[in-house]
Parts: sequence; structure tokens; C-alpha cells
Amino acid sequence: MKVLFVTSEIAPWVKTGGLGDVAAALPLALAEAGNDVRVLVPYYPALRQALPKATAVASLDGFDALFANSALHEARVGNLSLLMLDCPAYYDRPGNPYLGPQGRDWPDNHLRFGLLSRVAAWLGSDENALPWRPDVVHCNDWQSALAAAYLRLLPGGRARSLLTIHNLAFQGLFPRDALLQVGLPESSWSLDGVEFYGQLSFLKAGLQFADAITTVSPTYAREIQTEVDGMGLGGLLHHRAASLHGILNGIDGNEWDPAHDQHLPYPYDVHNLDAKAANKHALQAQMHLPQRDDLPLLGIVSRLTHQKGLDLVTALGDALPVLPVQLAVLGSGESALEDLFRRVAERHRNHIAVKIGFDEALAHRIEAGADMFLMPSRFEPCGLNQMYSLRYGTPPIVRATGGLADTVIDGVNGFAFLEPTAAALLATLQRAVATWRDRSRWRHMQQDGMARDHSWAAPAQRYSQIYASL
Ligand code: ADP
Ligand code: GLC
Repeated sequence: MKVLFVTSEIAPWVKTGGLGDVAAALPLALAEAGNDVRVLVPYYPALRQALPKATAVASLDGFDALFANSALHEARVGNLSLLMLDCPAYYDRPGNPYLGPQGRDWPDNHLRFGLLSRVAAWLGSDENALPWRPDVVHCNDWQSALAAAYLRLLPGGRARSLLTIHNLAFQGLFPRDALLQVGLPESSWSLDGVEFYGQLSFLKAGLQFADAITTVSPTYAREIQTEVDGMGLGGLLHHRAASLHGILNGIDGNEWDPAHDQHLPYPYDVHNLDAKAANKHALQAQMHLPQRDDLPLLGIVSRLTHQKGLDLVTALGDALPVLPVQLAVLGSGESALEDLFRRVAERHRNHIAVKIGFDEALAHRIEAGADMFLMPSRFEPCGLNQMYSLRYGTPPIVRATGGLADTVIDGVNGFAFLEPTAAALLATLQRAVATWRDRSRWRHMQQDGMARDHSWAAPAQRYSQIYASL
């Protein structure tokens, strides 16, 4: 199958979370499974800098008012084929792909990602006269969801569409005026169309019109069909249940491999787990924590948002040193949560260290140097960090939701709890600390996690089957 994979972020160049990791790894696995894959992504400054020699393949001027002054550039990075959408007025902006300097959404995001979606649909239509035309347009999240709507609403021959939900919380909601600005027909403004409580919803548009829908774990696929976890779209998703599949994400085994990780001072594998202790010491030193072996070190690497349930951790603040544990946190996001973490770290300098920011190298060092990894998420479509930590022999402590429930087995390779409360988290931490003190049981847990296969090979097969069925 010829597959166009459309994404608003791609690691290592532009990444705010797991979608960036998925967009870098899944297309390669899809290609290995026999598909001919191109990735369509905006030509952000970071990509322009990294790939200045990309060749222009098409100027898109004149097709559509939305297309003004845009062009497509092509580049190959290893086995990855990139199609980069150049439109300086929309994408030549520094930093985070969605937010302006004040931390607020860019006011023209509907045009920026409307264009991305429109060009994806154009590539998949018989208007496209380039030598390559996809059979399937694979959209990801609201930023490219509109491609599915364009493909269905525009006349002519067309590719089939698949929309993957990475996070139902981000829906791409805009005022009604945006409808005509992004070139959707007036007739699509209805309950069975793109309207969502008086606004235009990019995500709903995609869910209505995509030929197939996937999400990133089987448990999340069930959760989002309910009123409680469906975030206003549960009814629609339930209605589309026959076309909705939960496919657990994989992880990039080259990028996240404790034996060959460039970011680690002391690489290790399942046969020399003792070297993990040296990484712990290095991490403690880097985070200015006392280098103690008699306490377990907990790690957190996360966007700091309500989704991640980290306020349960700050609520426990004063209880952590008496458990006793140390805690190393790397994250950025909501300023209220950043402040809570800063304050609790100030109160307990010998036990809690916090770094606010985005730091790829430190993320790897925490996965390796921590004894346990903490993810008390309120909801978690898949979650990649718990799979990284399984691979790094760092048993995860998670709330049993979404992909966390599908990957962490309580008492076998990690610990899981159900109630999103600080009390439930504390009880689970106590169990984990007691288990950590039993060295041989702990070793078994580490080995179990490290032996699991979380590669992209099996998920890529599942996606390929769905492409073929379309
Ligand atoms: P989400 O996509 O909801 O943020 P995931 O667990 O799927 O959650 O993926 C998060 C990805 O982003 C992981 O690769 C994680 O290591 C990375 N990450 C999150 N916050 C940071 C940070 N502050 N510094 C470095 N990497 C981070
Ligand atoms: C989203 C989800 C996360 C998932 C990632 C990649 O950001 O929050 O759970 O792992 O997408 O699919």
C-alpha cells in the first residue's frame, strides 16, 4: 500500500510528546512491513535547519485559496521519506508547534492545520498529478483529522482515510467562522457533521468521515466509547465501534535501548543490571540529591498537565521523605503544577529534585537511573514512558487506565492502582518500596519487564491489515 502518514510533530526535530516519537518510528515499521510510506509534516524551522537540502517537488499555488504561497519539499533521512509542507507564513515560527511565545494557541491554528489537512487530502485525490499518490491517508490527532473530511466531501477519486486518536482531550475547536475559512461546505455544519456544541471540531470532523479509526491501546478504545471518558464524543465513537480499533503503540528499540544509549554514562543490559546502580549515582549527582543506595529513587518525566495526575504526587509531598524515597522530576507545562513541584522540592532538598524544562538526555538518564518510574495518569491513551522504563529495568508505578493498564501487570512487572487519589498512590508506593527491599523479587520484576517485546513490528502488521481492508 502507498501510505501518506500525516503528522504535526516528528522526533527528534519537533516533539512535544508521544506523537513525535510515534511519527518517527511507526512509518519505518510500516515500510518494513512492505508499505510505501511518506510522512507529511509542516516544514518547521527545526526541519529547515536540519534538512536544508530538501528538494522542491511541487508548488501548490493556485489550487485553492488555502494553498497560497505553499510548496512541497522532499527529503530522505535514512529510510524515512519526508514530504515537508512549506508555507513560511504559517510554519516559520520558533519553538512549540502549537503555542505562541505567551504559551497560548496561535490564533490561526485552524488555518495552519487546515492547510496541512487540505494538502494531505489533495495528495490523496485525483487532482494530484505528481508521480506518487497514496492509497491511504493516515491522519493523526485533530491537527490532520480534517483530511478525512476533505477526502469524503470533495468530488473525484480519492484515497481511503484512517484517523488515529492519540489523545481525545485535544479536539481542535474553533469558532463557526472557521468553517468557510478552511473550505468546508456549509452543509457540513450539523450534528452528524463537523459541528460540536456551536464550534467547529477538527477531531469530530475526522471521526465522522474517516473510513477507519484507531487509537493507541485496546483499553483506551473501550474507555472512549463511554460517556464518562468520551469527552463529549463517546456517543459518536460508540456509533463507529465497528470501525474503531485499539492498537497498542510500540517503542523505538534503537532510540530506547539501555545497552546502546548514548545519553547514559553506564550502558547496561539484563545481564549486568548492577551497572544500573552507577547510573543511579550519576543521576543523583546531576540532580543534586545525596548519593544514597539505601533509598529507592523514583523518576518522573512528563508533560505537567491535569491528565498526568501529578498533583497526586505533590499532594503526597511531605509523605515522600518519610516513606522513605527520593524523587527526580523532569517536566514542563502548566505553571501551577510547575510551582507545586518547585515548592515541594525546596522543602525537601535531600529527597526531591525537580528540573522544569524539556531535556531529552535527562529523560533517558532518569529512565535508567531511577529504581521505579511514576505515572499516576488520570487517563492515558497509551503512554510510552512506562514501556521505556520496562525496557530499562525500572518498574513502573501506574494508575490502571488506558495503555498503562495494557502494559503494566501489578506485582509482575510493576505496580498499578485504580482510584485516582493520593491515598491509593501512597498505598501503592508503600507496596513498591517493600518489594524493592526484597532484592531477588525485585530482580525478577526487572527481568520480566526487560524481556517483553514492545517493538513496532506487531502494531505495524495490524495497521497494514487495516489499510488493506480499506
Ligand atoms: P504524552 O504524549 O501524553 O506526553 P507519552 O508517554 O506518550 O505521553 O510520551 C511522552 C514523550 O515525551 C516521551 O518520549 C517522554 O520521554 C517525552 N517527554 C515528556 N516530557 C519531557 C521533558 N520534560 N523532557 C524530555 N522528554 C519529555
Ligand atoms: C498522546 C497520549 C499518550 C500516547 C501518545 C502517543 O500524547 O497522551 O498516552 O502515548 O499520544 O500515541
